[in-house]
Amino acid sequence: MTVGAVDLADPHTYSRHDPHAIWRRLRADDPVHWQPAEGDRPGFWVLTRYADVQAVFKDNRAFTSERGNVLATLLAGGDSAAGRMLAVTDGARHRDLRYVMLKALSPRALDQVGDKVRANTDRLVAAAAERGRCDFAADVAERIPITTICDLLGVPAADHETLLRLTKSALSSERPDAQALDEVAARNEILLYFADLVDERRARPQDDVITALAQSRIDGRLLDEDDIVLNCYSLIIGGDETSRLSMIGSLAAFIEHPEQWRRLRHGEVTVAAAAEEVLRWTSPAMHFGRTVLAELDWAGHRFRAGDIVTVWISSANRDERQFDDPDVFDLGRTPNRHLTFGFGPHFCLGAHLGRVEIAALLDALRRHVGEIRPDGEPQRLYSNVLAGYSRLPVVLAGGA
Ligand code: HEM
Repeated sequence: MTVGAVDLADPHTYSRHDPHAIWRRLRADDPVHWQPAEGDRPGFWVLTRYADVQAVFKDNRAFTSERGNVLATLLAGGDSAAGRMLAVTDGARHRDLRYVMLKALSPRALDQVGDKVRANTDRLVAAAAERGRCDFAADVAERIPITTICDLLGVPAADHETLLRLTKSALSSERPDAQALDEVAARNEILLYFADLVDERRARPQDDVITALAQSRIDGRLLDEDDIVLNCYSLIIGGDETSRLSMIGSLAAFIEHPEQWRRLRHGEVTVAAAAEEVLRWTSPAMHFGRTVLAELDWAGHRFRAGDIVTVWISSANRDERQFDDPDVFDLGRTPNRHLTFGFGPHFCLGAHLGRVEIAALLDALRRHVGEIRPDGEPQRLYSNVLAGYSRLPVVLAGGA
């Protein structure tokens, strides 16, 4: 297989090939790779080394997120939420909006949500271990991040299931034949849902993130409904699927590396260190992207204004220039400066929450599960941005 023949924008590439073989080849021979245009679709740069990925993330003067930050929008020519949704906003507006969102999120995430996440996770893992067999994706992982983020936002429990279904179709797909139109429909449904909830909270304020955003001001002006709705959308999309895929991926990793599972179980590594390695290893968000603002030279290549530059976290996190033995899953790895949550001005707003969720899962597994075995074929996602499994049948033998 040559990298030249592989279409890095095609979701099937990541279910058909071992992407790590592709990344290894690119890092070694072609670290600033040009993926040529195909029909109407523009070409794009593919950066795979840790130092390049980190440098692009850091520099929001040379590279903007306002014309999209993932291939789907970048290749379509832009993101209609630009300048309003945090992840696709730059400059002073980004700084102000990020401040407002951190303020709405942090006290709740830090004080109240952690305990709830741990209790919910503990209950789900204990029940799965009691039953012995489960699809870890559907029976455990699907129930944790969506509950957390919906509780934070103030989504009533009766609607969690609907939002889970919609977020699952909005960014990636569990079906190879899914159409881009299905994704658009799912995104629109989520936006409409939040528009109703914002109206409701404006009328009857509660102690939740939606109410906090509805009462927030930038330059003395209240955020308008579109701003709130789009950012609720980004919290639910950003907060659900990535954490869920990391959780499912951790189980897959323990099945493949039983000695690491034993280290965790027997307390030979801390849960915090293990969570970082799970985040590096699973890298659920494979790529992000930017658009070049003005012509510049990059490692001997000429980037022109308007060029699309993609940065591949899944490759940077296995870069042999940054990590010793990067293809070894080592729960005690230190240092472990992975780029799973990005870097710089757009660094993940939910990183703390993501870490709390993964740590809660590892701790619950350690306490309730003795042995983890595969119990059927796992199913990989079809996506060029998200990596992981939508189905992972396992046997969880109870711990002593
Ligand atoms: C940004 C990954 C969990 C909300 C990002 C970025 C990455 C990322 C790589 C940077 C995007 C860019 O530079 O264009 C992840 C992973 C997670 C996770 C791997 C879980 C394991 C969460 C959670 C939330 C969240 C739980 C919500 C509570 C956001 C938001 C941004 C963001 C709002 C945009 C920040 C900005 O542009 O300033 N995430 N995320 N993420 N994430 Fe997360």
